[in-house]
Amino acid sequence: MTDLLPTGHRRIHELKMQGIVKRFPGVLAADHVDFEVKAGEIHALLGENGAGKSTLMKMLYGLYQQDEGQIFINREHVQIRSPQDAIKQGIGMIHQHFMLIPSLTVAENVALGLKSSRGLRLDLDVVAKRILELSERYHLQVEPDIPVWQLAVGEQQRVEILRALYRGAALLILDEPTAVLTPQEVDQLFHILNQMANDGHALIFISHKLHEVLAISQRITVLRDGRRVDTIPTEGATKRILAEMMVGRPVVLEYERVECKPGKERLVLKKVSALSNRGDLGLKNVDLTVHGGEIVGVAGVSGNGQRELAQVITGLRPTTEGEIFLEGQDITGKSPVLLNSLGLSHIPQERMIEGVIKEFTVAENYILQDHGRKPYATNIFLNFRQVVTRTKDAIRAYDIRTPSHETPVKSLSGGNIQKLVLARELSRSPKVLIAAQPTRGVDIGATEYIHKRLLEERDKGTAILLISEDLDEIRALSDRIVVMYEGRIVGEVKNENVDVNQLGMMMAGVTS
Ligand SMILES: Nc1ncnc2c1ncn2[C@@H]1O[C@H](COP(=O)(O)OP(=O)(O)O)[C@@H](O)[C@H]1O
Ligand SMILES: [Mg+2]
Repeated sequence: MTDLLPTGHRRIHELKMQGIVKRFPGVLAADHVDFEVKAGEIHALLGENGAGKSTLMKMLYGLYQQDEGQIFINREHVQIRSPQDAIKQGIGMIHQHFMLIPSLTVAENVALGLKSSRGLRLDLDVVAKRILELSERYHLQVEPDIPVWQLAVGEQQRVEILRALYRGAALLILDEPTAVLTPQEVDQLFHILNQMANDGHALIFISHKLHEVLAISQRITVLRDGRRVDTIPTEGATKRILAEMMVGRPVVLEYERVECKPGKERLVLKKVSALSNRGDLGLKNVDLTVHGGEIVGVAGVSGNGQRELAQVITGLRPTTEGEIFLEGQDITGKSPVLLNSLGLSHIPQERMIEGVIKEFTVAENYILQDHGRKPYATNIFLNFRQVVTRTKDAIRAYDIRTPSHETPVKSLSGGNIQKLVLARELSRSPKVLIAAQPTRGVDIGATEYIHKRLLEERDKGTAILLISEDLDEIRALSDRIVVMYEGRIVGEVKNENVDVNQLGMMMAGVTS
């Protein structure tokens, strides 16, 4: 097998980072961090958004230079000034955003940037052959001749892994690799990672998901605010222990809800149907009522009409039949802008697409829907002082991690964007709030906060429709739970009386 490995490849028995410091303007992203990983080990790097995980690993991969501290490979001091240096040292990194060229084939992407001594054609045959060998060895299931644009996200990620292996990576850094994957793809990835570790690779697995870290790693290093909290063996670790290490205080994994006192009917759907993007009926004959002061949870497996439901209510998708009422007023077919002004708020599922304008700053996004209204505007003039003050208050109150209110939203993490959208939507004291997957992709600290705020909002009398694929979230927050299956509401239960098995059956479309 050695002839498969490119020249210059080295084995990494052990890699150590010692006393690593990295400063960004206003942020100490790495504060004297020690970290080590060994061949055959999957070492998880766990921490909330902004804890410094990516920064630490980017120094290992030569994308950033540390201000202080040293890196040792097999006890030998090394300097990594660029990704080329890192690759020469046997270090590979899979980024959160893939760096493949869609129009090129898998083999062409893998060959990209490699030195070619002969004609490209010949080289590609060699590359393709080796791709198949590596693919087989690590169960990557990658075909060399397919253009990358035809591949699913999980497959593209495997091409990235293959690219790194091809370049002789003995140590592979995976930065939140599961964020973009379906549960099945995650299983498949874990299988590949275990195979690589068994084969003597060292792996660094970055995540903020506790169950994943517990499932895949042998050791866990927790980072918080740029500091290493501790490194512990995975065996014996629990979600509770890890959550507390991450957040720095005990974390409520379950809430106490005061009894709900439902008020008037705020949102009523009568026999509402709508088309899906595929053109068939995505929403069928839905009757639904949400009262002030209650949270109604919509449970269901992804793709059973939840998205269409949120969109018809918020005016982003037309209905084909039925009516929707907000406090008795017929709002069917009204525009999102009008609905907004009537007191309907929306935390959209696709927050990067529907929730914010990425190029705009935090402050601009905070006043996105209200820029024409008081207190931000008088006549046609924006009151900048009000905008800045209110945005700064929100940043503080919601603990939005951003260098300033003038930072473009695109450089914030998903969790922080979600907190910004939540802050904005709740600042408007809505009558009805549609919260679609409000904590998907959000870390536990922020999740806890978002949950707390949603419960507070309910206690203030807001009618909340919580659409979530996370049954734990539905159970933790809802007063009533409805289940969607194939575009219909197939059942309703009170949370107190819920039987999880029964709920699961309804979600799977099994009716008793
Ligand atoms: N290129 C950069 N310029 C300025 N600040 C940065 C840069 N990269 C990261 N940071 C800041 O460093 C901190 C750690 O960020 P990061 O390493 O991305 O965290 P994580 O990967 O754990 O979410 C954050 O406060 C982030 O805003
Ligand atoms: Mg990161």
